[in-house]
Amino acid sequence: MTFRARHLLGIEHLAPEEIRTVLDLAETYVDLNRRTVKHSDALAGMTQINMFFEASTRTQASFELAGKRLGADVMNMSVAHSSVKKGETLIDTAMTLNAMHPDLLVVRHPASGAVDLLAQKVNCAVLNAGDGRHEHPTQALLDALTIRRAKGRIQRLTVAICGDIAHSRVARSNLILLGKMENRVRLIGPPTLMPSGVGDLGCEVYQDMREGLKDCDVVMMLRLQRERMDGGFIPSEREYYHRFGLDAEKLAFAKEDAIVMHPGPMNRGVEIDGELADDINRSVIQHQVEMGVAVRMACMDLLARNLRAERGARAAGVMV
Ligand code: CP
Repeated sequence: MTFRARHLLGIEHLAPEEIRTVLDLAETYVDLNRRTVKHSDALAGMTQINMFFEASTRTQASFELAGKRLGADVMNMSVAHSSVKKGETLIDTAMTLNAMHPDLLVVRHPASGAVDLLAQKVNCAVLNAGDGRHEHPTQALLDALTIRRAKGRIQRLTVAICGDIAHSRVARSNLILLGKMENRVRLIGPPTLMPSGVGDLGCEVYQDMREGLKDCDVVMMLRLQRERMDGGFIPSEREYYHRFGLDAEKLAFAKEDAIVMHPGPMNRGVEIDGELADDINRSVIQHQVEMGVAVRMACMDLLARNLRAERGARAAGVMV
């Protein structure tokens, strides 16, 4: 198995073979998670702390379940009731928790780059659970596993990422991963929701859903990230849905067997039609949630192996 990383901070740091290693190991955890007894001792004796400075349902719940299913002691730090509210900084908070000897620290933070900074201050493995509009690596990995299971491969596919690209860490991590695995990526959305320098990203850019979706294998919808917007980016939600919301009529321009994805949380009737989101013949949204637990188990298992090897080498006096 090839996986050299000490932390999981972003897809940009992973080589294609490391991505394949995560996906292959995650497959074994998909099987485990479908059993009645969902238990492994891959993290037995280890301590995992989850620090979420931004709201989350899927990512926080799945990291917690993942750690527990792997046998770790899991602690969820309640940021709302922590000394962060008294002005303690992120780094002081992280160093305080680091002194309690955790092995894995899972962090979500609204500031891009905050998780990388924190990783330099602690001596455990750090997993980025989403930092600002920078990266959400486990989301891109779980999306890749979902696509690979639905399409039988994660290469040579045409994938449309639609909506609020500018504010989306999910879009950024997926764009990097899909590019590394040699897929063709199209970005579809209004110019106001495209990142600056979009022309340099190596993908096709469309402002028309029907044109952009033509012959796509995968259609990935994104939420309008209102919490990261400081002004008006769309005329109205009604107008946005009319032009960029995915419904059966627009989906008909993609391949007949194209799958519909959404990282959640969804805004039905804004970026996606509610009936389409629930259509189990086209939508893999619930599969994405299921794959999230397995992928997070795989990531923590691999990082724990590297951590044990590093500590073992250090104890033996070998330079690491
Ligand atoms: N996809 C995702 O990150 O969802 P949550 O914000 O609910 O964790």
